[in-house]
Amino acid sequence: MRRLRRTPALRRMVRETKLAADDLILPLFVCPGEGVAKAVSSMPGVFQLSVDKTVETCREAVGDGIGSVILFGLPEAKDAEGSAAWSADGIVQRAVRALKAALPDLVVVVDVCFCEYTSHGHCGVLKGHEVDNDATLVKLAKQSVSLAEAGADVIAPSDMMDGRIGAVREALDEAGFGETPILSYAAKFASGFYGPFREAAESTPAFGDRRSYQMDPANGREAVREAALDVDEGADMLMVKPALPYLDVISALRYEFDLPLGAYHVSGEYAMLKAAAERGWIDYDRVMMESLLSIRRAGADLILTYCAREAARLLAKGWTE
Ligand code: PBG
Repeated sequence: MRRLRRTPALRRMVRETKLAADDLILPLFVCPGEGVAKAVSSMPGVFQLSVDKTVETCREAVGDGIGSVILFGLPEAKDAEGSAAWSADGIVQRAVRALKAALPDLVVVVDVCFCEYTSHGHCGVLKGHEVDNDATLVKLAKQSVSLAEAGADVIAPSDMMDGRIGAVREALDEAGFGETPILSYAAKFASGFYGPFREAAESTPAFGDRRSYQMDPANGREAVREAALDVDEGADMLMVKPALPYLDVISALRYEFDLPLGAYHVSGEYAMLKAAAERGWIDYDRVMMESLLSIRRAGADLILTYCAREAARLLAKGWTE
C-alpha cells in the first residue's frame, strides 16, 4: 500500500476526496441596527451583523472564494406566533434584498424556522406546552413565500414539523415561485452541539427542549425514513445535522438518495475546534480541514460551516494534506 503514498504528487494523484470552496456554505446571523458587528463569545470569529455589515462580510467572503451563504435572523421583536418571520420588512427579508442587489451571483439560502422569532423560543406555534404541527405548517409556508418574494435563492426549512416540505413546496408554487428550490434539513437531531448557536441566534427555548420534533440521536434508520418523506414531498436537496457525530447518517443517505446532500458542521463542532486550538492542543488548520474532508468523504456534497472562509482561504493558497 505504501507505493502510492511515497510522494506528495502520487498522493494527490490517487486522492479520492477533495474539498472545494464551491461546496461550502457560510452561515451568518443578521441583527437590527447599522454598523453592528457583535462578537458571539462561544464562537470566536462569528458575529451578529447588521444588514450593512452582512453585505460587507459577504463581499469579503466572495473575495475568499465563497459562493453561498445561509442567513439566520434576530428580529427586532418576538411574539408567541413569531410573526416577524413573515414580515416583508423582516430582518432576513431586508438582508436578502440588500445582498441580491449588491452581490447578485451570491447564492442566498435562508433558514426557515420559528425559534428565533417566537417569544418562547420553540420552532412553531404552541398548543398548551406542545408545538402544534399543522398550525405551524401554515406559518412556515408564509415565511417561505415572504423570503422568496424578497429574492432568496434557496429555502431551507429546519423546524422538523411533519409535512413541512410538502406545505412549503405547495405554497411556493401557488405564489409563483415554482423555480425556487428547497434544501431540507431532513435529518436534524436533537443535539447538544447546537448550544453556541442558541447564543448567536438568541433562540434558547424558554421551557422544555426540542426532543418532540427533532430526531433522537440514537436513530440512524429513522433518518432514512425522514429523508424519504422529504423527497416524496418535493425536497430538491437533503441535509444531515450535526455533521461529524453523524457521519454514518450522511453515508446512509448518500447510498439511498441521488439528491445533492448537505451536512451542517454546527456551532458546537466549531466551538470545540476553536477552544482546543486556543489552548494550543490541536493544529487548528489541519484539524479543521480534516473534519471538512471527512464530512465530504462520508458522502456530503455541500457543507454548511462557520469555517467556510478560513477553509476557502487555505484552499486558495493550495492547501493539501
Ligand atoms: C433552528 C436551527 C438551529 C440550528 C440551525 N437552525 C438550532 C436549533 O435547532 O436549536 C443550529 C445550527 C448550529 O448549531 O450551528 N432554526
